[in-house]
Amino acid sequence: MTTATLRGLPPGPDEPVDEQLAGFEADPFGCVERMTREYGDLFTLRLGGLGNEDLVDVEHNGAWVFLTRPDQLRAMYAPDAGTSGALANQLFFGTPEESVGYIDGTLHRRRRSQLHPAFSGGRDYAAIITTAVDEHVARWPRGERFDLFTALQALTSDIIAEVVCGGMPTGVKAEIAAMLPRMENAKYSRDEVVAADRELRAYLDRHLSGHRQRCDAAGVDDVSAALQRHAEAGDEALTDEVVRDEVFSLLYTGFSTTANALSWAFLEVLADQRVRDRLMAEIGDRFATRPVPGEAAKDLDYVDAVLSEALRLHPVSALNGVRMVVEPLVVDGHELPAGTVVVHCAHVIQRDPRNYEDPLVFRPERFLGAPVDPYVFGAFGGGARMCVGRGYARAEMRVILAMVLASVDMRAVGPVPAARQQGIFMAPERTECVVEDR
Ligand code: HEM
Repeated sequence: MTTATLRGLPPGPDEPVDEQLAGFEADPFGCVERMTREYGDLFTLRLGGLGNEDLVDVEHNGAWVFLTRPDQLRAMYAPDAGTSGALANQLFFGTPEESVGYIDGTLHRRRRSQLHPAFSGGRDYAAIITTAVDEHVARWPRGERFDLFTALQALTSDIIAEVVCGGMPTGVKAEIAAMLPRMENAKYSRDEVVAADRELRAYLDRHLSGHRQRCDAAGVDDVSAALQRHAEAGDEALTDEVVRDEVFSLLYTGFSTTANALSWAFLEVLADQRVRDRLMAEIGDRFATRPVPGEAAKDLDYVDAVLSEALRLHPVSALNGVRMVVEPLVVDGHELPAGTVVVHCAHVIQRDPRNYEDPLVFRPERFLGAPVDPYVFGAFGGGARMCVGRGYARAEMRVILAMVLASVDMRAVGPVPAARQQGIFMAPERTECVVEDR
């Protein structure tokens, strides 16, 4: 296509920004489904700065272009696409900090390589996870309804606090883990969320000071100390403030995402006896002894397929990867001007019958032995910024799903619910469950 035949921004509604934003925020998944029906595979929503324009200062034209086909994603994630993940993420999350999500280029690549060993480098957190699962499941009430999402959030908060801040005193880690859900849960107001955010950063500041030295003296290690070591080795970008923000961001992104995805996985499994039987057959008695043997979580192919299928049907956001256009970007015959935000809309792609047969059916088998096309399955985003915690997240979720189901008899109260906004993510509307000892 020549430049002359390229079209401008794709079609979309022409209501004022406030109305479009309110419609999107009230029901993100419903909104993108409606837009796809009305405007096709590529559409523009005028969402302004998602309400964050007072917090960050980026040149943005207010247009959010939603990509809903794998071939469109290739343009978005091409290494030479003139886009910035940092600018888009600043706008999306409303934060001008310099942790990994908010930097670009060489600095971004270096930071990712510093985080890689902890989250995708095969580091084994099985002992931390299995111990936490035992402690938490023992506290879940027996024979009474309880909220699974809240219980899983408490569990994944404890685990990520141990992984990222393991060398800190037990009481400090418990305090960090307790603060995390307060930044995320729907029952808290925006002011309370902002206060909790500030409180946790200040708390981390206090406990990060001298942390690496204390870890070395005690012969322990964690992600925070590793970052401080990179700073001491000469990485000038890692100021005390940036290390603090990096630790904060890992804690924050590392607990609710997995609690969320796990809630969907549990609810889907509990709603489908066939899937449940197959899962239980694979799990067998792997988790019957303590300490849980190292190999218990190996080769759990069906458990992995269940998790992939849960993430396919229920991605954590309607905005599964956002990039700000810096150099005009051509997507599907449209030239998108600088200042446009392009959005990877996994929710639509992963429910499209062109990509998955019977897309609304929960069928883990579709992931068994089949190669996964990263432009079709995009639960962890894509390109150079694909989720840095995905290896760790999968390992953690695998152990939790398998071990909980092996430990207790569980049933959900009611069918698989709709999704609702929960903090910045989409979570199941209701997650009431009942457990009994086996
Ligand atoms: C089921 C669990 C999770 C899901 C579905 C998920 C999903 C995502 C998605 C969609 C992105 C955006 C990627 C992009 O822009 O292309 C992302 C980025 C990120 N995630 Fe995750 N995530 C999960 C767990 C975690 C965990 C456990 C951690 C940390 C311990 C983590 C840390 C991050 C970070 C730091 C980024 C920013 C990466 C960058 O900009 O380079 N995530 N994640």
